[in-house]
Parts: sequence; C-alpha cells; structure tokens
Amino acid sequence: MLGDKKVVFSGVQPSGNLTIGNYLGAIKNFGAFSEEYKCFYCVVDLHAITVRQVPADLRRRTYETLALYIACGLDPEKNTLFVQSHVPAHAELSWLLNCYTMFGELSRMTQFKDKSAKHADNINAGLFTYPVLMAADILLYQTDLVPVGVDQKQHLELARDIAGRFNQAYSPTFVVPEGYIAPTGMKIMSLANPESKMSKSDVNQNAVVYILDPKDAILKKFKSAVTDSDTAVRYAPAEKPGVSNLMTIYRCFTGKDYDAIEKEFEGRGYGDFKLACGEACADALAPVQSEYARLMADKAYLEEVMKKGAEEANYCARKTLSKVKKKIGFVI
Ligand code: TRP
Repeated sequence: MLGDKKVVFSGVQPSGNLTIGNYLGAIKNFGAFSEEYKCFYCVVDLHAITVRQVPADLRRRTYETLALYIACGLDPEKNTLFVQSHVPAHAELSWLLNCYTMFGELSRMTQFKDKSAKHADNINAGLFTYPVLMAADILLYQTDLVPVGVDQKQHLELARDIAGRFNQAYSPTFVVPEGYIAPTGMKIMSLANPESKMSKSDVNQNAVVYILDPKDAILKKFKSAVTDSDTAVRYAPAEKPGVSNLMTIYRCFTGKDYDAIEKEFEGRGYGDFKLACGEACADALAPVQSEYARLMADKAYLEEVMKKGAEEANYCARKTLSKVKKKIGFVI
C-alpha cells in the first residue's frame, strides 16, 4: 500500500520489439489498473546489462520502450513511468537483499540456467543475482500486485521469500507481493509453431508479429500462419492449436467471442479467415503505431516523462530504503 491505494509494479526490458503477445496478454490491459491501484512501470536498464548491450542501442531502446508503453495506453499522468537507473535505490536495495538471499536459491533459478547456457562466454555475477535486483524493484514500492508472464513466476516467488525472510528477521518491513498472471486464453502462441509461446526473440520472423510491424508485413505473417489440414474455423486448442490461436488473436482485437467467430467464417476457407485476422490486427495497431511515431519524434517530452517518473519513484523508494537501513542497524 501507498497511502490509501494498493500498488502495482512491473518491469520491462528495454527492447523496442514488443510483440502482439506482449500487447494483448499484458500491456493493453495494464491501463485498467490505474483506476484502482498506484501503478509503477519501470524500464529495467540495469537488468538489461546482464547480457552485452551496444551502448547506442540500449539508449535508443530505453526511449523506444517508454514511447511504446505510452502509445499502448499507459497515460503518464495516471501511471508512474520511469527508468530503473534513474532511481539509485534499486541498486542499493539490491545489494542489501543479496545478503538475505541464498546462493542455493539463486542456483535453482531456471532463467539463470537457460541464460548461462545461452551466453556461456559471459556468465557474469549480475546474471546470477538478477532475481535479487528484481526483488528490490518490487519491494521498494510496497507492491501488492505484480503483473508478469509465467516465465517470471519463479523470480516472483523468490521475491516473496526474500520479503518474508526480512520481515521475519526484523519486523514487518515489506509487503509480500502477489503475482498477477494474465488470464489463460490471453496467451498468444507463435504463428509458425502454435505449440510454443510467441517470443520476441524467435529466429523465424514469420512466427512473430511485432506491435510496430507495417501492415503488409502483418498481412504476410498471418497469411503464412500454420493451421491444419481441416477447413473449419473452430475453437479447439488441443486439436487445432493453430486455428485456435488465430481465433484468440482475432477475438482480442475485435472483441467477438469464439461462437461469433465460428459463425462468421462458417463455410469460408482459412484464407479468408487469415486475411481477416491480419486486417483486424493491422487496424488495431495503426493508432498505436502513429502515436509511437509521434512520441519518438518528441524526445523532449519523453525526457520530461522520465524525469517526473523518476521523481515520484525516488520519493517512494527512498522511504522504504531508509526503513530497511534502520532495521539492519546502519547509522543513518
Ligand atoms: N525480469 C522481468 C522480465 O524479464 C523484468 C522485470 C524486472 C520485472 N524487474 C521486474 C518484472 C519487476 C516485474 C517486476 O520480464
């Protein structure tokens, strides 16, 4: 809680190439939280450097990510949008929490195991302690709710364990956060392999639709989407994963339910259906894309948003940090 409102916190990696999976399963729904919660959305540049980054790209992507979030409907007047490295308390609390996190716990993190296999030439300590920084992000704001993808569930559990351990060792200091995993059915699968999640780092470019893809690319990708040898547009995820995934996408973009979609395409082939999906997607993304372009042409505005966000975040974060330092026994 902060004041009389519960708190939502989420972090996003500074990578401009967000997919329609990120959009439909997460960002698009984030705006609704701000009515009821105090919301913080943080561009996590400190996390990003656990893998090598080209400096100019990192800097550009930080702007891009912020612009994309605003373009997707997160109003900077209603949400605190900020950059992690602008709030020193994140790095500071992260060190403190390192001393309340066990080596064994971090060794069990599956993302660490995956990433260290993938970046075998750069298994740095930051990659190992990544989840502690994430815990610091969350706990600094006395967060109640953390919207995350399933892949972050283990990190969130760890944040809860660290909070509980600290509270136990001293006295209640941190809110123990709950995860908010997007409701099922909102999970968007790859267009090329509907058994696996749509991932922004997929090497097969036809598998992924990015929020910033131009219309012709979107239509082409939907046209080449994997379906099945049947012809009926029918929702049956186990039996017809490709078609069902397209139906989910179509439903999310148009608001029509599965029954209505089945009726709409009754007796028509997959060709028509895929075209309709592509059109619906491109139409829905068009206003997001033009707003994004407008924002990217206005760096001064984005910097203003970052500055205001950092001030708000700093204020809240510093309060928690000094509480923590006092409990530990530091002279402050
Ligand atoms: N680790 C998250 C991811 O890769 C990003 C993240 C960093 C985050 N800090 C966070 C998410 C705090 C939620 C809350 O997606």
